[in-house]
Amino acid sequence: MNILAELQSRFARVLTDYTTPDQVAQFAAMVRPAQDARFGDYQANCAMPLAKQAGMNPRDLATQIIGKLDLSDLCHPAEIAGPGFINLKVRDDVLQAIVNKVDGDPRLGVETVPTPRSIIVDFSGPNVAKPMHVGHLRSTVIGAAIDRTLRFLGHNVVSDNHLGDWGTQFGMILYGYKNFLDQAAYQKNAVDELARLYRLVNTVSDYLTAKASLPRLAADLNSAKDRVAAAEAENAKDKAAQAALKKLRTEVTVATDDLKSAEKKVAAGDADPVIRDLAEKHSNIARAARDETAKLHAGDSENRKLWNEFLPACITALNKIYDRLGVRFDKVLGESFYDPFLEEVVKDLKAKGLARESDGAQCVFLDGRAAPFIVQKADGAFTYATTDLATINYRLRQFQADAILYVVDDRQSDHFEMLFETTRLLGNTAVDLRHVKFGTVMGEDGKPFKTRAGDTVGLESLLDEAIREARKIVDENDDAKRDDNEQPAPELDEATRAAVAEAVGLGGIKYADLHHNRESDYIFSWSKMLAKTGDTATYMQYAYARTRGILRRAEAAGTAVGDAELVLTLPAERHLGLHIARFPEAIAAMVNDYRPNLLTSYLFDLANGFSSFYDACPVMKEPDAKLRASRLKLVDLTGRIIRQGLELLGIPVCERM
Ligand code: ARG
Repeated sequence: MNILAELQSRFARVLTDYTTPDQVAQFAAMVRPAQDARFGDYQANCAMPLAKQAGMNPRDLATQIIGKLDLSDLCHPAEIAGPGFINLKVRDDVLQAIVNKVDGDPRLGVETVPTPRSIIVDFSGPNVAKPMHVGHLRSTVIGAAIDRTLRFLGHNVVSDNHLGDWGTQFGMILYGYKNFLDQAAYQKNAVDELARLYRLVNTVSDYLTAKASLPRLAADLNSAKDRVAAAEAENAKDKAAQAALKKLRTEVTVATDDLKSAEKKVAAGDADPVIRDLAEKHSNIARAARDETAKLHAGDSENRKLWNEFLPACITALNKIYDRLGVRFDKVLGESFYDPFLEEVVKDLKAKGLARESDGAQCVFLDGRAAPFIVQKADGAFTYATTDLATINYRLRQFQADAILYVVDDRQSDHFEMLFETTRLLGNTAVDLRHVKFGTVMGEDGKPFKTRAGDTVGLESLLDEAIREARKIVDENDDAKRDDNEQPAPELDEATRAAVAEAVGLGGIKYADLHHNRESDYIFSWSKMLAKTGDTATYMQYAYARTRGILRRAEAAGTAVGDAELVLTLPAERHLGLHIARFPEAIAAMVNDYRPNLLTSYLFDLANGFSSFYDACPVMKEPDAKLRASRLKLVDLTGRIIRQGLELLGIPVCERM
């Protein structure tokens, strides 16, 4: 049972007397868990804004609302505090009954949804044959957590890995393969060699492009400076002129940065004899690589053959990472899969008058947007946009999708806004399209995260490093092991240590991606990620292992959990019980706006509640046998919820640590 949802729905029924039907839900949502336990378990803050709307006194309104609410089967009589807060406290006997029910429920109180939806979760989506980076890892971790949680709730989920397997990187790789291949290296490790070729072609091409752009960038900067000087000379004091001047100054800053970064690239290339030499011999490399892509798309037999050779190797390498992360996909339908449908998409857009030609390209112009959504370039090439439109058509047709979630970097916000708008214009208004966006992972230097070696992290090595770092903690911890007032824990054997290091290392990486508000950037730090105390996976994993240790020792002492009745006597016990009862609320909050951090913060509070309970309430030392059995049960139940919650997040637990 979801207590919060029940309270909100009872409030909603009463609130219809005080506001319009479309606003009821919004005011009912103002019933929330209390911030401070002194004010009860839940608090409703709706009386103040409602009273304002209705021109009433808020305390009077609160009194009226309470008078109409029937909560006696759930709560103690409601109390009004301050300007009109309504404080609610769940009846102890009711709470105890709920917790006992959760205990007997394999789903731990979380009901499946009454009307399952068909939901596509589009996540991971790395660009194959390029090294996968931490951004794709974040998508993978967040996407998999959402995927598992929706399934747990009973939705019909299709997880789909929209691989970038048809993009311009293949042109670079094809060009590299034909010109710079190291055959021996390719035989040894095809994927590494392809990644090297990609980087090589990309660097040379970037260098040449930067070099060619220097005069233009310098001219842009000068012209921006001239315009600032002209505006300053005019010395207009009105607001509009000041704003225009400010904008011009920003243009100077941007132009300065652009020029600087191009100069930096050129300097780096100039300093590297290999790059300089290749640039000289392959001066048209960018165009040549584009031509290779075009040939591939046009069906050129050699390029298709090579593509068919590259792809399986790349997918095998990706699968190794997915296996380690415990992630699986129902579908792996990459961009190449949609190639046959692209022409049709553009035709349809033209027929419906949505796409029109502009500078030779086919564009969808959307209201209030400076740039159009380009669905076919002047050279005839289709785009990322065309592919995503074709993908939506397919998902609607094939899976009758009610919702499609795109777990993708927030730098693609514009793309998804335009994609969704175009889809609506095409008449597909029923499907719920969501960009579940996330921010950038930053290094401790404040720049996007890179390894010490300086290049964007190869994910395999990142995972290995996490496990090595975690192993240090596991080894250190053996000495400092707490004894939980009882037997000291036995030393862990080698196999257990390795397993714990793996769980802590990978769990730590995942937790870091999950527990930050997904929309914010965060700083990647091993020490924070693997800390034993604080809001980390390690802390939760220890809390779980601690519950298991207590139960093992109890069993060894002949006290099994059995079918004792759970009783909540002391405040710390009740507090933990309330938390246990709130597991369904945490799950509902997480899927409401696809925010895994709401589940991690719930688990963190639960682990803290457990710790306070264990400090305040004796378990094995409790003389009353019934109470002892009840407390053991509470220990067991807490452990099961932590395990279930972490499992939904994709974080493994260990029985001993
Ligand atoms: N391959 C894309 C990238 O790396 C992500 C794909 C996301 N999914 C989608 N349907 N566009 O940026």
